[in-house]
Amino acid sequence: MALNELQNKQIRMNKIWTVIFGLLLPFFTIGQEKSTVFLDSVLAQLSLDEKIAMVHAQSKFSSPGVARLGIPEIWMSDGPHGVRAEIEWDSWKYAGWTNDSITAFPALTCLAATFNQELSYQYGRAIGEEARYRKKDILLGPGVNIYRTPLNGRNFEYMGEDPYLASQLVVPYIKGVQENGVAACVKHYALNNQELWRGHINVNVGDRALHEIYLPAFKAAVVEGQVWSIMGAYNQFRGQHCCHHQLLLNEILKKDWAFDGVVVTDWGGAHDTEEAALYGLDIEMGTGTNGLTYSETNAYDNYYLASAFKEKIIKGEIKESVLDDKVKRILRLIYRTSLSENRPLGRVNTKDHHEVARKVAQEGIVLMKNDDNFFPLDATRPITIAVIGENATRAMTKGGGSSELKPQFEISPLEGIQKRFKNATVVHTLGYGSGPAAYGKEVPSPYNADSLKKEAIHLAEKADVVLFFGGLNKNHFQDCEGGDRLEYQLPFGQSALLRELSKANSNLGVVLVSGNAVETPWLGDVKGLIQAWYLGSMSGTAMADVIAGDINPSGKLPFSFPKKLTDNAAHSFGAMSYPGDSINQEYKEGILVGYRWHDTKNIEPAFAFGHGLSYTQFEVDQIKVDKTKYSKKEPMSISFHIKNTGLVAGAEVVQIYIGKHKSAVERATKELKGYKKIHLNKGEEQKVNIHLNTDSFTYYDVKTKSMEVEKGAYWVYVGNASNHIFKKIKITID
Ligand code: BGC
Repeated sequence: MALNELQNKQIRMNKIWTVIFGLLLPFFTIGQEKSTVFLDSVLAQLSLDEKIAMVHAQSKFSSPGVARLGIPEIWMSDGPHGVRAEIEWDSWKYAGWTNDSITAFPALTCLAATFNQELSYQYGRAIGEEARYRKKDILLGPGVNIYRTPLNGRNFEYMGEDPYLASQLVVPYIKGVQENGVAACVKHYALNNQELWRGHINVNVGDRALHEIYLPAFKAAVVEGQVWSIMGAYNQFRGQHCCHHQLLLNEILKKDWAFDGVVVTDWGGAHDTEEAALYGLDIEMGTGTNGLTYSETNAYDNYYLASAFKEKIIKGEIKESVLDDKVKRILRLIYRTSLSENRPLGRVNTKDHHEVARKVAQEGIVLMKNDDNFFPLDATRPITIAVIGENATRAMTKGGGSSELKPQFEISPLEGIQKRFKNATVVHTLGYGSGPAAYGKEVPSPYNADSLKKEAIHLAEKADVVLFFGGLNKNHFQDCEGGDRLEYQLPFGQSALLRELSKANSNLGVVLVSGNAVETPWLGDVKGLIQAWYLGSMSGTAMADVIAGDINPSGKLPFSFPKKLTDNAAHSFGAMSYPGDSINQEYKEGILVGYRWHDTKNIEPAFAFGHGLSYTQFEVDQIKVDKTKYSKKEPMSISFHIKNTGLVAGAEVVQIYIGKHKSAVERATKELKGYKKIHLNKGEEQKVNIHLNTDSFTYYDVKTKSMEVEKGAYWVYVGNASNHIFKKIKITID
């Protein structure tokens, strides 16, 4: 056959195959995924009205499907620490169901403090199973906004101040959730770092801080975690609302990170039809239009992505293809969730879910100070323990805003102590009082502060040991959505009370229940200090596990505790930096957030990022790098030898930080780029390797608009806290 005849035959065959393949493709599933052609074929069957309906809410927590074609509705629920109780169709009231109680998992600050990716995966899988059982398609979490100020009312829902740590922990959480055919919805993208004026404050931050500090955890969620949905933030960034944002959504998220999922507004986060249509939003929820305030039959038609959007399409002001892209993303999410063939059935309130909650709580609790081995308390002794403080009995799954939960049970710290310390006489009094949790307002305490204090001092004087359970709570202006804390010190007179208690009994230990750092001027008056977070259903059990020494604490702080508020970077630059002038705000500290600031400016914190003590000791030696000249091609390995030299089993988190002192750009002294949590029995030893790669050395170059590596000398720091380094090694990159 002549060559051109052969080529013609080849072309004819190719054409035939293309036709056959094209006909079959609509029915093809690529792995679990439906092909674009398939989604196009579904899209082609939808009317304009049906498509418009799909891009905005039909109730507080759902968006409609297309019943005539069997396309299901999408049901969403908060998130991120448990599946929220059912809410009425179009009001914020609870629906009063009796079958919607769940497992409350520890708050995400606690998860971050575990420094344990495997636990994050178990957390995600368990909460995903509960969401699936409750027939949810999207779980509104996890949150990864960076901890910038200790006053932010929502820090407890996030994963701390370090972008590397948050990135490491967000990915397994997402994978665990999505294995259940439930979409995770990572939030709040981006720069929602305070609650005050969250609906409008315009954040101005430089490109380096944006890409090095505030975006990496979102990027990891999208690129590595393959998250199926993302929630925009309420605030503005460079003059545009984040729920419809050209740079954040269209350019960075959808183009650079190739996100193929759904962008959901935060509830009421859309502000304009054209911007919502064009700047990357896919589903509009809970907007403060008539949809929020009235229950008229057509209330939801007033959403920005409802009738007004339709009109603009009909008039040709916005192309229908803009709507089609949104609907295709929504269809993709539906096929990944409610129409996914292998979707498991889900489970709720199981023993193993409670165990996951307990394990995360146990591993996240941080032992901050332990003079004279105050902790653990010997549970065999017939002593009197005075448990003082409102947080010993206060339910912390109530309040806090949208993350409020209705758990099947919540074991209080007092119950946990009473159960574990059976040989002791456990007495309790409040010591101080705050009002009940109420959204958007402060309710005063019904108690008389003086009599509470007197009673507490009286109990302390007579006890062998005093355990003070204080901190913050889920009231407005505490750890609660919709407002920031008003002061850095402990509220409700706790600092003064602690002083008096220490005079009454010097055998005093403190358990802080909070999602934020607090001022600790009373530190010298107390022997022991535990940071115990909001721990959910198994709170009291997990705290008692640690206090009695059944579990050896291994949590590490995911954020710094400054000595005073102005030692925090954001606060040190005055009001324009935090909280802004109510219209604009400048993140003047740039990349120097959290420990990066403390380290670089030599401002000693009360407790440093990464800090956490143990009931045992670890010896880390033979610290080496496998090469002192690093080339971009292969990973670099840092090896060390670690031994548990104490008397009980425990776990240590060895942390690797990288620093570059001579640089053409501003640098933090050091930044976390690797860590490993190593569990060792008493006397056990291990050789450990931690790998670094090119990403460990990059910075964001504002000229090339990409992450770059600078040549020259770097320091590799190996330690067990950002302020406790065992060894620093110089390496070079040519
Ligand atoms: C919060 C979101 C939450 C949503 C739905 C908003 O006010 O910012 O985090 O998912 O409400 O409850």
